[in-house]
Amino acid sequence: MRDRWGSRTIFILAAIGSAVGLGNAWRFPGMAYQNGGGAFLIPYFVALITAGIPLLLMEISIGKKFQAGAPTAFGRIHRRFEGLGWWAVLTSFVIAAYYTVILGWSFNYMWASITQAWSGGAADYFQKSILQISDGPGDIGGFSLPVLVTMVLAWISVWWCVRNGVHSVGKVVKWTVTLPVVLMIFLGIRTITLPGAIEGLNYYLKPDFNALLDVKVWAAAYGQVFFSLSVLFSVMIAYGSFLPEDSDTTTDTMIIAFADAGISFLAGLVVFTTLGYMMHTSGVAIADMSISGLGLAFVTYPEAISQLPGGHIIQAIFGLMFFLMLFTLGIDSAFSLVEGVVTGLVDKFRWNRSWTLLAVCVAGFLGGLIFVTKAGLYWLDIVDYFTNNFNLIVIGIIECLLVGWIYGSEKIRTYFNETGTIKFGKWWDAMIRFVTPLALLGISIMWIIQNIKENYGGYETKYLILGGWLVVAITIIIGFGLMFLRSREAAPEQITEMGVDA
Ligand code: TRP
Repeated sequence: MRDRWGSRTIFILAAIGSAVGLGNAWRFPGMAYQNGGGAFLIPYFVALITAGIPLLLMEISIGKKFQAGAPTAFGRIHRRFEGLGWWAVLTSFVIAAYYTVILGWSFNYMWASITQAWSGGAADYFQKSILQISDGPGDIGGFSLPVLVTMVLAWISVWWCVRNGVHSVGKVVKWTVTLPVVLMIFLGIRTITLPGAIEGLNYYLKPDFNALLDVKVWAAAYGQVFFSLSVLFSVMIAYGSFLPEDSDTTTDTMIIAFADAGISFLAGLVVFTTLGYMMHTSGVAIADMSISGLGLAFVTYPEAISQLPGGHIIQAIFGLMFFLMLFTLGIDSAFSLVEGVVTGLVDKFRWNRSWTLLAVCVAGFLGGLIFVTKAGLYWLDIVDYFTNNFNLIVIGIIECLLVGWIYGSEKIRTYFNETGTIKFGKWWDAMIRFVTPLALLGISIMWIIQNIKENYGGYETKYLILGGWLVVAITIIIGFGLMFLRSREAAPEQITEMGVDA
């Protein structure tokens, strides 16, 4: 008997937990700021309706229908596509390997909030004390001890959250989804009442409608929606596979997608009111601050916290709140990635779940060691850029073609409409068959042009090949290689053994 979510609410919370992550906290606000401010909400909602929600619904429904993770589910649609599922699973694995490192940093910062370790300048603290950053990706220079230690802590936390599969996940997500939102609201109430806050909001939301004429803005919106909903990396299929037959996936999808969007928007309010306050106290224009990426969370924000009125105790409390928020935002995304990998493996090979989980965590830890060296940040940046662009785009296009055309979007639509309260019409088919793959194709063309024009992040080509293309190639080769391994069910002598297990 397959494991089941404890309740519908638990499933919804777990899926929101996966979707809502570090991407909401710094990727969305930065994207909005760079791409038309308040006007960005328009392409964002268009992308959400035309691609995000259709894909999320598709993945949850596929998981539910086949009662299996991505590799097995795709393999049932067409046996040659099992490899696509493995590719997605391996991408999850790679992301988990560096996502936990970032979670680790938030542990370092929780401690630092108390000790005020960044009072000499947050940029220095981040680069010298925490990362102990080297001169470039070629200069590995050994491990940074504080980061290594907290990364181990992060892996232990991840392992602990998924140790009993959906049962322990169910218990954890009640906290890891609600707590960061409460903390965010709390922080927002404080920051919106600071001097300069309104000016900050003006930066964030002042609409520039001309931006809507720029295809890059649209590509950014679609890219952000895919990233934020955690689709295409096998996770939502795995989560859907633990749903019972009669669940209302259409309504659940809408709840998950809008909760994710709402939390992104809220995070933007917190971030930009804070930046407005910084501008007020330091005189540095927001345009000159680090407003997206890791710099926002680990340099700009701590800097702002150290300038909060009220003295050390207040600053320590707000620091703790912010980094606890970051940790709880991220942990449920991290363990959903691990759950996606474990589900894929267990469904195919029928391995013992606990041992598989342990093996995946240990492997993820070993793989993540590169990211806790002194050159770790560079490698993290490169690997993140390639997996979340190249792998996401290509997996997305093939997945839409597989489900939309080979399996038949109508078949899956009929399937989810049967038990769904909200019914989706024929337009859903058009989104999956045309709009979503075309949007991905558009993004890919821009991505290719961008990468031909200049090396990402100014890194030397050899490092981009190693951390980018090689990692991409490995996920493809191992992914499609796994497809040729026999699944446990297929071998007769093992079926008897399974009978004994059961
Ligand atoms: N959605 C997550 C965030 O906003 C990041 C993410 C992207 C992710 N793809 C994923 C998480 C796949 C889990 C699974 O931070």
